[in-house]
Formats: sequence, structure tokens, C-alpha cells
Amino acid sequence: MSENKNRPETTLVEGGRRKEWRRKLVNVPVERTSTVQFDSVADMTGNRPGLGVYRYGLQGTATHWALAEALTELEPGAAGTALYSSGLAGITTALLAVLKPGDELLAPDHIYGPTRKFCETFLKRYGVATRYYDPLVGGGIAGLIGESTRAIMLESPGSLTMEVQDVPAICAVARERGIPTLIDNTWATPLFFPAIAAGVDITILAATKYVGGHADVMLGAVSATEQYFNRIQTLGWDLGHAVSPDDAWLGSRGLRTMAIRLKQHEASALTIAQWLKERPEVGLVLHPALPDCPGHDHWKRDFTGSTGLFSFELKGADTAARAAFVDALKLFGIGYSWGGYESLVLVADPVRTVSKPPATSLVRLHIGLEHPDDLIADLTQAFLKLP
Ligand SMILES: Cc1ncc(COP(=O)(O)O)c(C=O)c1O
Repeated sequence: MSENKNRPETTLVEGGRRKEWRRKLVNVPVERTSTVQFDSVADMTGNRPGLGVYRYGLQGTATHWALAEALTELEPGAAGTALYSSGLAGITTALLAVLKPGDELLAPDHIYGPTRKFCETFLKRYGVATRYYDPLVGGGIAGLIGESTRAIMLESPGSLTMEVQDVPAICAVARERGIPTLIDNTWATPLFFPAIAAGVDITILAATKYVGGHADVMLGAVSATEQYFNRIQTLGWDLGHAVSPDDAWLGSRGLRTMAIRLKQHEASALTIAQWLKERPEVGLVLHPALPDCPGHDHWKRDFTGSTGLFSFELKGADTAARAAFVDALKLFGIGYSWGGYESLVLVADPVRTVSKPPATSLVRLHIGLEHPDDLIADLTQAFLKLP
């Protein structure tokens, strides 16, 4: 477990930059290899894989260890961090590490679409049933836990509808029953919500987003407590998951500036969300730091900041009108993903099983690092294109 006493901004700079890995360089270099050549049979067979132990390309090199160690140091209570080739690979591996045929998973109804798809396809075939719950259920999760419930997934806020969950309440119930909790913490990152400290066992980042920060890499990271870390890391290796050292290096490269980028994403997104609230074309603005967002009180209590992703309701707009608005935007690229330096937009149609989304006809924005006044000017001209 990390003994890190530094503030997160300092950890972002110092984390993982061990002298023996970077030597006289500022950054740990890209170490590219499949094969490690050992000095002797004893050297080959004497070590268990892990940070600092060269074994085979699959288990990584100093380039990977530097990123993993920095992420572990950022997450108080984490025993380690395993890297994956995408955020989704991290989510699916972590779920598989705690579930077996016959088990039930509880998952929030606002869950990231591809995670829901994995539950509905692979997990179902594998014999794991998923029961969806209202993301705002809080301590009421106790009433949903059944005989075969073996894991509770959380995502806070939900990446389309932004409801903020009562993570400590859900985790307290889960701990009492001995059920592991997993969270997709991509929106807040450990800088704004240290999830393990809030009671979560396994926390997952799509490092593709704010860790990478430049829309040029796919990467996932799973940090976990002592009880769960080894089995997650080992399952990743057993499944043959490997991360390119170039991609791990890009992850570290992005991580060094994450605090300063997040501060700007936060300030610009708040400016734009507040401006949108005043527009006659806009209904609900679903931004966790604004009171209209379901679960806002949990955000206020548990988070130390907000980031660049939020949604809003385009009042009374049908599918064609919403598309006309989005198509008219010039500075916002239309695209999946978020967390890069550039602003993005997409239309969002949440899928629900047991609860209602807070609003429909949603547009999701990721506010990048452009000047917010230019983004407001772009949104203004697009509102004028509404039929
Ligand atoms: C909330 C959330 N979790 C996980 C992912 C998956 O990350 P990746 O694209 O790296 O697989 C995404 C991607 O959009 C996401 O928005």
C-alpha cells in the first residue's frame, strides 16, 4: 500500500518516476520488448511478476510500471493498479475477476452502454445475471441484494444522464454483506473523488479520457484494495491483455498535466452549463455541480471538483431538430469519447430498465480547453439553426 504523503498535484509530477526506471532522464523511457533475457535459470524462475520485475512483455516494463505506480499513489487505499488496452477492457476484466457462473451482479440503470452490453451478452451467456437498480437507490440497495448477489457496480456520475450516486451508503451496505463494489470513476478521476477512500473496493478509469487527455490513446486502469488487486492483475495476464509501452508512455505523459487540465475543464464547463441554464431552448442542465442534477447533494458532500462532461435537455426538440442543432456546431466535434483537450458533442438517448432518465432529448457536451466565450458563441449560432 502506498505511503504517499504528497498532495495529488505533486503525486502527478513525481509518481512512478523511480530513479532506477528513468535513470538520468526526466521521464521513464519507452521500453519495448516481448522477450526478457535472464542471466540464469535461477534468475528466470526465482521471481514473481510485479512492479520492477522483468519477466515477459505481457507483464510490462518500466514504462508500464511508472504509470501503474503513479495511479496507485493517486488512489489512497489502493494496493496496486493493473493497466488495460481500453477502459472497457478494464471494466470487463474486473467484473470477471469477482463473478462466476450462478452469480448476480447489481448494476446502476444509467451504466455506460458498452458495459450494459457486456452484461447482457457475455455475462448472461457465462451464467451471470445482471439486475439493474435505480442509480439513486442509496442505502436502499440493501433491499435488492439477493442470495446470489456477488458484486455491485457503480458509475458516478452516469456518463449520459449524470446522476450522482450515494457511493458511501451503497458501499457501507456491501461491506457489511461481504460483497465487492466496483466503480467506473472516469468522470471524477481520483483527483476529485478518491473512490477507495469512500468505501469502494475496485475503481476503474477509462484512462483514454482525462489521464491521456489528448484524444490519442486507448487505455484502462483498475486500482483495487489488497483483497482484490492480485486476482484482477492475474486475470488480466491469464486473458492475455497487454498494453503497448507507447500507449502506457502516453498515459504517463498525459497524467503529469491532469490536475491543471481538469481545473480548466471544470471552470469552462461550469461557465457554459450556467449559461445554458438561462437559454430558452434548454430544459434541464444535468451537471453534477448544479442543483438541478439528480444526486447533486452527493456531489457536494463527496467530490472536490467537477470536470468537463455534462448533458442538457433540448426543450421540445424532436430527433431532426436535435440533429440540426448538433450538426450546426463548428467547434464541437461530433464523436464518442471525451476527456481530451478538444470539445465534443453527441446526442444521447439513455437506455433504461428499471428507472426513468431525468430528461430525454439530451445533448451531451464535453467542454475542452478552447476559450469558453468561443464555445458559447458556437452554441449561440447553433441555437439559431433550430427549426
Ligand atoms: C464512463 C465511461 N466508462 C468507460 C468508457 C470506456 O473507455 P474506453 O473507450 O477506453 O474503452 C467510456 C468511454 O466512452 C466511458 O464514457
